[in-house]
Amino acid sequence: MNLKEMQQLASDVVKKAEDKIKNADELKTLNDIRVEFTGKKGEFTKLMKNMSLLDKQDKPEMGKILNSSRQKIEQLLSAKIEEIKNNKIKKQIIEETIDVTANKNKHKIGHLNLINETMAELENLFRTMGFDIVEGPEIDTVKNSFDDLNSPKNHPARDLTDTFYINEEIVLRPHTSPVQIRTMKKGILPIRMVSAGRTFRNDEVDNTHSPMFHQMEGLVVDEGVSMANLKETIDLFIKKIFGDEMKTRYRPHHFPFTEPSLEVDVTCPVCKGKGCESCNNTGWSMELLGGGMVHPKVLENCGIDSEKYTGFAFGMGVDRIAMVKHGIDDIRLLYDNDMRFLEQF
Ligand code: PHE
Repeated sequence: MNLKEMQQLASDVVKKAEDKIKNADELKTLNDIRVEFTGKKGEFTKLMKNMSLLDKQDKPEMGKILNSSRQKIEQLLSAKIEEIKNNKIKKQIIEETIDVTANKNKHKIGHLNLINETMAELENLFRTMGFDIVEGPEIDTVKNSFDDLNSPKNHPARDLTDTFYINEEIVLRPHTSPVQIRTMKKGILPIRMVSAGRTFRNDEVDNTHSPMFHQMEGLVVDEGVSMANLKETIDLFIKKIFGDEMKTRYRPHHFPFTEPSLEVDVTCPVCKGKGCESCNNTGWSMELLGGGMVHPKVLENCGIDSEKYTGFAFGMGVDRIAMVKHGIDDIRLLYDNDMRFLEQF
């Protein structure tokens, strides 16, 4: 065998290896190829054995050729191994990616229920008018809820059919007025506060009544506070909440805790005052708000000198405010949690 034939054999082996490597797509296959060509009993070992058949002067040349052929195969193998490994990682990255944007429309962001929204709006408004926001408990004493508010023992609101009693001395508060009492008893004057929250009355459910509803109460106590201040405050707040075109109407009324007392109506939001079915053709939306000058007895019950100080108080149904503002004719809608209704606001 001469050098030329040996060279041909070597390049055939390289060609064969090259094809096999090109078509391999698994590391295991490549390892088999390595064994087949460069392994102990592989093709190269066989070629090396042929060296003894060459003339002595051709042996170094053939040695070089075999070495470089072997190197070439090894390079091809390494490159292919690298390629397969890279592909495997790429595939893995694609397959195992967590798509953090998936289901992006599944969870809708909601918003406050209309009542909480109205309550927050009222609180923000009064805060800008210089009022403190005060919280009170939903369960309070009969003393704070009635006695100290100057409610006579036989007042109908105190009846079991009107108020939920926990026992003889404790009630679910039937209005937010006990928060006035709690604030005045702290004795820090002057007072300018509002307090909003849940209230409870033993009412049958209908389109304007719910045994659980919401009120907001306001109280101002200082030297020289007058009815004019009360009217100014209410007029301003009504316009801010409902718009400038809203008019107010004041009617005399009676509350045990204020003297004189009044009730406030606002322009009917449906007909804008022209008269329609929902306002019984009066043009007014009724009884949105009650108020008056704090009864001197109430001030004295809380340890405030009624000769020196006067005050006004007002209370409103938050549910009614929300209903008037948004033209809702049934209070039950506010509590039904029907998404079709709630999503409109
Ligand atoms: N507490 C009264 C009610 O629930 C409302 C009110 C509050 C009236 C403060 C006057 C002053 O009807």
